[in-house]
Amino acid sequence: MAQGAEPYGVIRDGAIAVKGERIAWVGPAAIGGRLAAAHGIPVRDVEGLWITPGLIDCHTHLVYGGQRVEEFEQRLNGASYADIAQAGGGIQSTVRATRAASFEGLAAAAAARARRLMSEGVTTLEIKSGYGLELAAERRLLEVARGIGRELPVSVRTTFLGLHALPEEFRTARQAFVDRAGNEWLPALAAEGLVDAVDAFCESIAFSPAECRQFLASAARLGVPAHVHAGQLSDMGAAELAAGCRALSADHLEYVSADGARALATAGTVAVMLPGAFYTLRQGDPPPVALLREAGVPLAVATDCNPGTSPCTSLLLAMNMACTLFGLTPHEALAGTTRVAARALGLGSDRGTIEVGKRADLALWRIERPAELSYGMGANSCVGVVYRGNSRT
Ligand code: NIG
Ligand code: FE
Repeated sequence: MAQGAEPYGVIRDGAIAVKGERIAWVGPAAIGGRLAAAHGIPVRDVEGLWITPGLIDCHTHLVYGGQRVEEFEQRLNGASYADIAQAGGGIQSTVRATRAASFEGLAAAAAARARRLMSEGVTTLEIKSGYGLELAAERRLLEVARGIGRELPVSVRTTFLGLHALPEEFRTARQAFVDRAGNEWLPALAAEGLVDAVDAFCESIAFSPAECRQFLASAARLGVPAHVHAGQLSDMGAAELAAGCRALSADHLEYVSADGARALATAGTVAVMLPGAFYTLRQGDPPPVALLREAGVPLAVATDCNPGTSPCTSLLLAMNMACTLFGLTPHEALAGTTRVAARALGLGSDRGTIEVGKRADLALWRIERPAELSYGMGANSCVGVVYRGNSRT
């Protein structure tokens, strides 16, 4: 979607010129054709397909061991997510499976998930750690994530999710864990070039605002940007915390106050909607989208791919759910997986729209109108991808 008069910034019968890995020109095909002929530039005619920016999944926990189907079954037999977490299941059970898995096993399973996302036009993917919860295990997750970006034609942004859950060995030493995550593990992993951002799960079953603030302050001292898991199960003031830390994004936000929404808008923090988790946990109250919209908070949409709350490898399905469950418009859902998702990763000036100078990451669709991307359930109309200026097969 380049700039244009129609909603979505549509240019009909348009053309895009690519030089190297960047977009060099965007405009009407009639002019583009003449320019190409005059300069001997090869032309690829995509004959009636729609072209959007490559999709961006800005919140995933893609690298993990095992799965949690037994918890899916327990929840449908009446247990809650919090009950299961408090009984030592939930994130803890994935931590055990992840620590026990081999590097190769983690990498193969994560690559398979990445490929499914990529088949739907995803060209940039955020991957969080958070299932290791000690230095060597977290390092492995971040290395697997970096490996995906090297081995597959997709860009990976890594996030050190240092405060995800308190591991069993620190059960009686909470403060020591928070200190170690922020003062030792984060600086070490950042120095190894493994960390593009940090994240903390601010929730009654996870970490308090004070604990998250301490961890995020360590990141700020290192110049590492932040995301916050905020307001998923209750409002603990995590949106205000995220805004106060100038976080790139506050994610989930089923529970956020008007003050929290205003604080996010003022800070320019993106609200990342994660309807896959809301759906899987069969939550009752969706995020207050009207409040966020009125406050002027930019809305992104992501899969939250993880074994516990969102075993989802379809960003198109997340867009559908964001519309049907949360009331986003199809236009907001598409902006939320392109332009706004790029901003949620601090990449807004580099990708997420079809504009001159941006990276030539493009998805080609056999659709009749853009809303169709959010309309289908289990429909994949992606028929091609251009990644860094080259066709991806
Ligand atoms: O985004 N909320 C915390 N983290 C994940 C769930 C992780 C898990 O249950 O394994 C989420 O929903
Ligand atoms: Fe998450």
